[in-house]
Amino acid sequence: VTTSARKRVVTITGATSGIGLALAEALLAHDVSVIGTGHSSECIAAARQQLAAAFPGRQLAMLNADLSLQAEVRRLADGIAVQLRSWGYQALDGLVNNAATVPYWQTLTAEGFDMQWAVNHLAPFLLTWQLLPLIEASPCGRIVTISSGSHYAGKLHWDDIQLLRRYQPLTAYNQSKLANVLFTAELKRRLGTASRVLVFAADPGLVDTSIGAKSNARLAERVWSFRRRSGISSQQAAAGLLPLLLDPAPAETDQVYWKHGHPQKPSRLALDPDSGWRLWELSARMCGVEGRRQA
Ligand SMILES: NC(=O)c1ccc[n+]([C@@H]2O[C@H](COP(=O)([O-])OP(=O)(O)OC[C@H]3O[C@@H](n4cnc5c(N)ncnc54)[C@H](OP(=O)(O)O)[C@@H]3O)[C@@H](O)[C@H]2O)c1
Repeated sequence: VTTSARKRVVTITGATSGIGLALAEALLAHDVSVIGTGHSSECIAAARQQLAAAFPGRQLAMLNADLSLQAEVRRLADGIAVQLRSWGYQALDGLVNNAATVPYWQTLTAEGFDMQWAVNHLAPFLLTWQLLPLIEASPCGRIVTISSGSHYAGKLHWDDIQLLRRYQPLTAYNQSKLANVLFTAELKRRLGTASRVLVFAADPGLVDTSIGAKSNARLAERVWSFRRRSGISSQQAAAGLLPLLLDPAPAETDQVYWKHGHPQKPSRLALDPDSGWRLWELSARMCGVEGRRQA
């Protein structure tokens, strides 16, 4: 990974554990300023302490926002803008939509959305939307949304997108990770070829994190505790994401989906422009923002 002389600043959602925390470490090690986010004061304090101790003197902020709530996503975007200004930045160089959740039993947010749909898809959509002007102001803006190989098994349940009639945790997860790739591909189309902003969906591979231990069912936690043992470390996963954020321009930037620093073919459905368009319009309606597509 090569870095330019210009100091960069990157926001990572879900930077309190797993891949997000490891990516924060990796970026700080490259002297990139980091604005991490979490949704628990204790986890935020622990992550801040760990990162500050490892990288004293680096620019680090940890902001608190529950990404299941659109009001909080909007408040977070405002908080990021305030943080950037206080550090003297005019732009945001990178946004990593990393936070995700896999509740075993369906949970509805206080705003009435399915928790997985809200955190895993609507939050990346809305946060990107809110931060786009700041990212476009950067000479090297990057938006990386963490998807998963699970997207290959996903399909869009258009008649019940939040699976309110029949919720199944992995069906919801696969769909949300497919939505991450569709969203990225559609964002790329809407930005158009003239935009300097590079957008990627990234598959970190199977990673030994606690994500499945946070589901609300013992059985799922036990299955995950076994499965995660085959995974790579969060540090290895983060190393695969760095080139998307730091390299002057990753080769083959027309590729949407990346794994371990290399482009991969996503599912056929993930690149379907009609589905991308439909998902964007639906997400914009659900988030109360207006759609935009450049010629
Ligand atoms: N682990 C894997 O094998 C794997 C494979 C493919 C893709 N991924 C993807 O990698 C990304 C990171 O996952 P991970 O494995 O590193 O899991 P993780 O350690 O559980 O990290 C998820 C992060 O998201 C945060 N988060 C969850 N719900 C939130 C909410 N409502 N508001 C704000 N933040 C919230 C978590 O905070 P708390 O800990 O405080 O809840 C945590 O910081 C996810 O997008 C996941 O889908 C993971």
